[in-house]
Amino acid sequence: MSYIDDIKKRPIKEDAIILAIESSCDETACAILRGRTELLSSEIESSMTEHIKFGGVVPEIASRAHTAAISIVVERALKNANVQLNQIDAVAVTYGSGLLGALLVGVSYAKALAYALKVPLIPVSHIRGHLAAIYLADDKLQPPFISLLASGGHTAIIDVKSYSEFEILGGTLDDAVGEAFDKVARVLGLSYPGGPNVERLALEGANSIELPKMLKGKEGYDFSYSGLKTAVINYVHNCEQKAIEVNKADVARSFQHAAVEVLVKKSVKAAIERGRTVVTAGGGVVANGYLRFLLEKTCEKKGIRAVLPPKKLCTDNAAMIAAEGYIQYLKGNFADLDLNAVARVKFE
Ligand code: KG4
Ligand code: ZN
Repeated sequence: MSYIDDIKKRPIKEDAIILAIESSCDETACAILRGRTELLSSEIESSMTEHIKFGGVVPEIASRAHTAAISIVVERALKNANVQLNQIDAVAVTYGSGLLGALLVGVSYAKALAYALKVPLIPVSHIRGHLAAIYLADDKLQPPFISLLASGGHTAIIDVKSYSEFEILGGTLDDAVGEAFDKVARVLGLSYPGGPNVERLALEGANSIELPKMLKGKEGYDFSYSGLKTAVINYVHNCEQKAIEVNKADVARSFQHAAVEVLVKKSVKAAIERGRTVVTAGGGVVANGYLRFLLEKTCEKKGIRAVLPPKKLCTDNAAMIAAEGYIQYLKGNFADLDLNAVARVKFE
C-alpha cells in the first residue's frame, strides 16, 4: 500500500500532537502543538545576522543556514516539549509562499520525517499560518472575525468567515506595509530588518512631518504603500539637497503613524460594516507597539474586541504553522510525498 493510502485510513484524533516546521525566509523554526491550542514548544534559529551586511535576506545564505539548523531546532523542540518522536501524530510544513531554496529544506525534512514515522504530512500556507496564530492567543476564539494581515510580503483585510472560508476585502496595490518599513529604514540609514529599528527610532520623534494621505478619496479597503514610501524618500533627499539637517526620529514617527493609522482605520471600518464584533491581526508588522496600541484603543472606542497574538507569534515562527496544520489535520488535508515548495501560493 502506498504511503498516502495508508495514511488516509488512520483515525483523526482531537488531541493529536503536531510537529510543525517553518523555513520560508530567514528563520528555521519547529513547534509542537497538542490539540488546537496547547503549545508544547516553539523554537527558532534565525540567520538574520548573516544578512545584515547585505541589507536584506540573501536566498543562498538562508538555504544553507536552514540546512545547518533544521535538525538542531527539531531536536530542541522535541526536548522542550518533552515529547518523543513516536508520539507525533502528524508533521505540518510551510510549503509556500517564500524563498524556494529555503522552503525546500523544510519540505524535504518534513517529508522524510512523515514517511519515517508513518504519519500524515500537512502542507501549510505561510499566510494562513499568520492568520491562525491568533487561535494560540485565545483558545476560545472562533470565526467569524475581521483579520488584518500585515507582513513583509502581504497587507490585507480579510473577513474570516470560518476556519477555512476567507473573503479578502482589500489588499495592497503595490508594496506591502513591512516592505515600506524596510525601505524607509534603509533611507534613514537603519539596518535590516527595518521594522523594529524604525519603531525604536520613532519613540524619540514627533509626528510632525506632513505625508500624503493614502488613496485619497477612495473609500475601499485597498492600500498603496509605494506613494508613502516615495514621499518619505523625497522628503529626506530634499532636506539633504538643501543642506537641512533631517530629524530622523521625526521622519520615523511620522511614517509609522501614516503607515499604521490607515491599517487600523480600515480594519475597524470592516468590522463595523460586516457586523463583526472581533478584530484580529497577524504578520510581522503586528509586532509594532504603536499598531497594537492604536488598534486596541480604536476597537475599544467602537465596542469591538481586539485580539492580537503575542509579539513572538507575529513574526515568523512554527507555532502558527502548527495552529493552521491542526485545522488542516481535522479536515484530512494530507499531502503525498511528491509535495513541492511553491514560491507564491494563491490565497492562501
Ligand atoms: O511576517 P514576517 O516576519 O515575514 C513575512 O512573512 O513577511 O514579517 C516581516 C516584516 C518585515 O518587513 C519587518 O520589517 C516587519 O515585518 N516588522 C515590523 C516590526 N517587526 C517586524 N514592522 C514594524 N514594526 C515592528 N516592530
Ligand atoms: Zn511571515
